[in-house]
Amino acid sequence: MTGAAASTNRKDRALDTDRLNDDEAEATALDHFLGEGLVTDVVRIIKTGKEASVHLCRANRSTTGEDLLAFKVYHPLDRRDFRDESIYRDGEWIKERRVRVALKKKTRFGREVQGALWVMREWETLRTLSDAGAPVPRPLAATEDAILMTYVGDLEAPASQLRSVRPSREEARDLFEQVMRAIELLLIRNVIHGDLSAYNVLVWEGRAVVIDLHQAVDPRKNRHAEAMLQRDVDRVCEHFERVGVTSSPSRIASDLWNGWRFADLVPEELRVELEI
Ligand SMILES: Nc1ncnc2c1ncn2[C@@H]1O[C@H](COP(=O)(O)OP(=O)(O)OP(=O)(O)O)[C@@H](O)[C@H]1O
Ligand SMILES: [Mg+2]
Repeated sequence: MTGAAASTNRKDRALDTDRLNDDEAEATALDHFLGEGLVTDVVRIIKTGKEASVHLCRANRSTTGEDLLAFKVYHPLDRRDFRDESIYRDGEWIKERRVRVALKKKTRFGREVQGALWVMREWETLRTLSDAGAPVPRPLAATEDAILMTYVGDLEAPASQLRSVRPSREEARDLFEQVMRAIELLLIRNVIHGDLSAYNVLVWEGRAVVIDLHQAVDPRKNRHAEAMLQRDVDRVCEHFERVGVTSSPSRIASDLWNGWRFADLVPEELRVELEI
């Protein structure tokens, strides 16, 4: 799209931008998705988090198959929380020396690369997992700053974060089983969330949906993977303990880890297609 066309487009949808934060990256990413004919309007902002803002959009059903979509746009670099995330990149080799050095020294360019890596990692992880039928939003499109994905909720309200759901004992047990199964499904696809908590699980109509996968790690590469799996399981179990579900997080995590390692040792040709 030319600059002139983009600015006309932006004027045409002055109402939409009013519902965005005052930030150019959001407007540019939204322009992109509008231009691609995927969304038609921004309904409202759902939440501004530490790393990103999430907006509810009306979708173009003929191009997306959906009526509503979530538009997650990462904050501009100067507003992101660039804590040391080298632990998450352990085992990932970056070919270009210039990029490696920039990441290490946290130069402006290094932060740009890191920012783009997050979006790419979230996009790719969501794709792999949703194709495999895991309970995560399905991603539809991405730019270097934003991801458009299926929305969990309805027009009135988004799904609640697990931390604010007050389930009965039975519902709590069911949600617990769902989240544990989700962790296992991720692991079967070589994904450990890395930041799992009652904030990053949404609950809608009794179903748990795992979100926010920009820090996901691959246990085949990352030497801290087992510890991260343990931490994810600990955090989830701590939450469920508060709503009456007692469990043994150490045993759960070691069973999951051993199950994953064992499956990994079975030769490819002997593996039965996993039913997930
Ligand atoms: N697909 C979705 N459908 C409905 N709501 C969503 C969706 N994705 C995110 N949200 C809402 O937006 C919030 C922030 O999303 P997310 O956790 O991905 O971003 P974040 O900036 O990394 O957040 P934080 O740093 O606070 O964890 C979620 O907790 C949830 O309430
Ligand atoms: Mg989050």
